[in-house]
Amino acid sequence: MTAHTDTSTRPASVAGQVAEPWWRDAVTYQVYVRSFADGNADGIGDLRGLRDRLGYLADLGVDALWLNPCFPSPMADAGYDIADYRDIEPSFGTLAEMDALIAQAHAAGIRILLDIVPNHCSDRHPRFQQALRAGPRSAARSWFWFRPGRGPGGDEPPNNWQSYCGGPAWTRVTEPDGTPGQWYLHLFAPEQPDFNWDNPAVRADFVKTLRFWFGRGVDGFRIDSAAVLVKDPLLPDLDPEAGPADPHPYNDRDGIHEIYQEWRAVADSYNEPRALLGEVWIADPQRFAKYLRPQEMHAAFNFRFLQCAWDPAALRAVIEQTVDFHRPVGAPATWVLSNHDVTRHVTRYGRTDTRFDFDDRGHGRPVDVELGTRRARAAALLYLALPGGAYLYQGEELGLWEVEQIPDELRQDPMWRRTAGQNPGRDGCRVPLPWTGSEPPFGFSGPGTDEAEPWLPTQPASWRDYTVEAQLDDPDSMLELYRSALNLRRSVPGFGSEREPLRWIDATDGVLAFRRGDAAACVVNLSADPVALPPHQTILLTSSPLTDDGLLPSDCAAWLTME
Ligand code: NOJ
Ligand code: CA
Repeated sequence: MTAHTDTSTRPASVAGQVAEPWWRDAVTYQVYVRSFADGNADGIGDLRGLRDRLGYLADLGVDALWLNPCFPSPMADAGYDIADYRDIEPSFGTLAEMDALIAQAHAAGIRILLDIVPNHCSDRHPRFQQALRAGPRSAARSWFWFRPGRGPGGDEPPNNWQSYCGGPAWTRVTEPDGTPGQWYLHLFAPEQPDFNWDNPAVRADFVKTLRFWFGRGVDGFRIDSAAVLVKDPLLPDLDPEAGPADPHPYNDRDGIHEIYQEWRAVADSYNEPRALLGEVWIADPQRFAKYLRPQEMHAAFNFRFLQCAWDPAALRAVIEQTVDFHRPVGAPATWVLSNHDVTRHVTRYGRTDTRFDFDDRGHGRPVDVELGTRRARAAALLYLALPGGAYLYQGEELGLWEVEQIPDELRQDPMWRRTAGQNPGRDGCRVPLPWTGSEPPFGFSGPGTDEAEPWLPTQPASWRDYTVEAQLDDPDSMLELYRSALNLRRSVPGFGSEREPLRWIDATDGVLAFRRGDAAACVVNLSADPVALPPHQTILLTSSPLTDDGLLPSDCAAWLTME
């Protein structure tokens, strides 16, 4: 295993305080590998490209990287359909390349989190192929949820569950003897059969996978679709009349917690404990917090913050609730604005309705990119000042927006196809990053390789002003704002330490103002008019220039030191 004990805990921000585990307040950069950087000029981002750009990420000032799945996959859902959990997808590289990435990242003081997908695998996974061949009532089928159909001839799905990607959550197979046969469950696309977590062999296999990667030096996992693994074994119909207190047949069932308790014991069994970070979409904060009890996950994404409108009262309420419901379980809060599934926040904040909703992504509605950008700059200073872990999605540091103008024939996301185009899907936030030059593909495949067409060739021409090259050293750029903020978060006592409580400061309507620790403060003006800053010692950073008379303009944030 790679040695990197010197970065296991960050130095305490205040001399004499005990250093906290790194994951409590790390800034984690999400790498959507296929769109980050291409290292071999085939138009697909890969581990080589990521290694070549580690210097960029170290300079940016992030503590950890979370890589979206990079295991062998037929890519029916961009790698969330895994055919082998213990190898690397060939178009992304090799195991040796991953080992080299881990070593190189650790040498730069950067942690590596991978993305594990326990709810489902690929229909090309050997276990599923074996299950298809073995036929009904075989041990091989008990790795998944195979059931006879309902109705005459078993022609109807076993129950009424719908897939998250659109259409029924069941697909019928043809049995080895050629007859129409059983159905299998897939909460996502048909190419993603759900594992049966009641089968102890499934549990043991995932522990083996965790140990495989932890043994190679991986610092933790983001856990995909973490709340839906356990199913009611009777597979009852979903009752449309059921209330929030009724047990759901697959979402957030009580039995799920013992899985993560087992995983936590595995993570804690290493000299340097590994971190578990859950993708937990659960509305009820108390139920959410259960996943973060001391013997379960270390942290989970705070999607209520991501979904929240750019509105002072709503944001304040979410921040207060978040801090309140994490406190009893002792887990750090997390703060996230964008990821590979949601509309980029420059676009969200530039619309009339600034919330995020999966069922209505706001696709095609007017966007004021300038306003969205101004707000995104203020939001960066807001979320990086809050207590806990911060998660930054690649490209947000460049101020990229959602690319909505994608010709139908180029769209890749199964959501687009499976909803017959009703849902535009998630391609718009997955467009390859612009690095250098003045024309697409903006150096995505490295210098001098602009003939290589990226897998999603839809970068807007206007991104010429948004490349890394164009933004570096431009004091007004989004990139320099992020670099300054991340640097200050490390150096100013207060902002970066999760244990420093958030204390609100009295402020006029529409203004969020709070202190972190003894000296640091953040003020965000979400009102329509400029406001005076509270009494302060120094202005560390502002998201836009102050007015000529020193006021904080609308949709602007400031970091201050105070008495
Ligand atoms: C959540 C992931 O973030 C998303 O991209 C994926 O499609 C689903 N889980 C299914 O794995
Ligand atoms: Ca490549």
